[in-house]
Amino acid sequence: MPARNMTPRTKASTRHLVSINDLTNSEIECVFDVAQAYLNELGDRQLKYRIGRGKRVAPDSILATLFFEPSTRTRLSFESAMLRLGGSIITSADPATSSAAKGESLADSVRVVGNYADLLVIRHPRDGAARLAAEYASVPVINGGDGSHEHPTQTLCDLFTLKQKHKSIKNLKVAISGDLKGSRTIHSFVYALARFGATIEPLPAPGMELPPHVDRRLREEFSSKIVARALEQGAASIDALYVTADEPHQQSLFSGPEIDYERVVIEKKIDAVYVTRFQKERWSEKDVSYPKIDAAFLKNAKYSQASVMHPLPRVGELDAAIDSDIRAIYFQQAAYGVPVRMALISLLLGLERGKSLRRFESGFQNNRLPIYDQPRSMGVQCVNPNCIVHEPSESQYVRNKFHVVRAAHQCLLRCAYCETDLDSFVTANNRSKWYSHGRNLLSDAGEPSKEMLAFATEEDACKEGFHLRKNTRPGTARKATAAS
Ligand code: NCD
Repeated sequence: MPARNMTPRTKASTRHLVSINDLTNSEIECVFDVAQAYLNELGDRQLKYRIGRGKRVAPDSILATLFFEPSTRTRLSFESAMLRLGGSIITSADPATSSAAKGESLADSVRVVGNYADLLVIRHPRDGAARLAAEYASVPVINGGDGSHEHPTQTLCDLFTLKQKHKSIKNLKVAISGDLKGSRTIHSFVYALARFGATIEPLPAPGMELPPHVDRRLREEFSSKIVARALEQGAASIDALYVTADEPHQQSLFSGPEIDYERVVIEKKIDAVYVTRFQKERWSEKDVSYPKIDAAFLKNAKYSQASVMHPLPRVGELDAAIDSDIRAIYFQQAAYGVPVRMALISLLLGLERGKSLRRFESGFQNNRLPIYDQPRSMGVQCVNPNCIVHEPSESQYVRNKFHVVRAAHQCLLRCAYCETDLDSFVTANNRSKWYSHGRNLLSDAGEPSKEMLAFATEEDACKEGFHLRKNTRPGTARKATAAS
């Protein structure tokens, strides 16, 4: 029997942080104001970036860390943050000693632990796991890294670090190096950078470019414009440069007076180089060619003022010889994890007088996208093999759930869990049993009706007994396919 709609659960008012796009720009600034206040009040007298004392802000609250993947910084800085706030922590950091080893689903675990704690921080190897957890938990869920999807609190630490160093997080020029495909830190980071008007210079290891859905969102939803494709002599690794207008999300800004983006881009010095390690646990290849950031790389004049950042851990891609270079700020970046997470915890728990993330109505995507929602047994499934929907233990708790996105030409389906895009499918009507190649049929009437289904291919639709829509004018179906 197909799973019934089992999306009950979380109270509508509960705020979660699964994607950096769950926070508006002003909410991000609000987190930073609170973090700064904690640093000012409780900062170590010698080391200005370190929290040295505590305060009884959350004496009655409990934070649970549920980690199904290794972690040092994220888990310990969350726990340190909660302890500095006077709260308590409970932790499950070893999947081998938790009920996961007995086959318990994440959906069940978070419903149970939600009764023991007021806030859950989840880390999981599957993309989209944090969204699933948020659907089932009765208390706020914070994504501490889910597969290669996102790591929003790392981005908050990264931006806060940039703000300390450069005074502002607006209009920065940031180079991102390494495994841009597998690094969840990068995905949250580039969305946020674009939203604050940055220029982003990708320096991927070969074959590790930004995933197509992240690239598409930067261009189509975050107003980034790609310029300087292979413009710089001898810089073959630069195949795209994302330039975002000062005020992102207003495409009209690009239609103003002609700006010589290419000149601007080449002449401007880099403000930060963000280095990431090869995410070996997410690749089958083990022996890969990988960029190394060292003193020789940083000699280039355009990096003369660049802060060197890394979410850590590093495993050889960032030379330890530059630790003493004034540009190296990765240990401060890790230290800021405590004040930033103190701010986030106290805001999510509603403990900051006059300020609360709970009071904001929605995140960055305030125009909520229509949702396509069908049982797991029906129609198209997420195409990302690492998505949580493909985890056998979760099969009764997930649905074929997608945001319907109006892309440049035809609508596409974005997995509601891992946010991978699906841009090739046929639409079908479950009552009349027809299918059509017109993808826009899904979103024509706003929220897709429960009768409307999507199949990955025409063959899948036929196998389920659907036939090509009768009133499709000859040739229309084929044309629609060509446009897809
Ligand atoms: C990162 C992660 O887990 O994604 N680490 C962290 O949280 N600071 C980066 C990494 O593991 O490479």
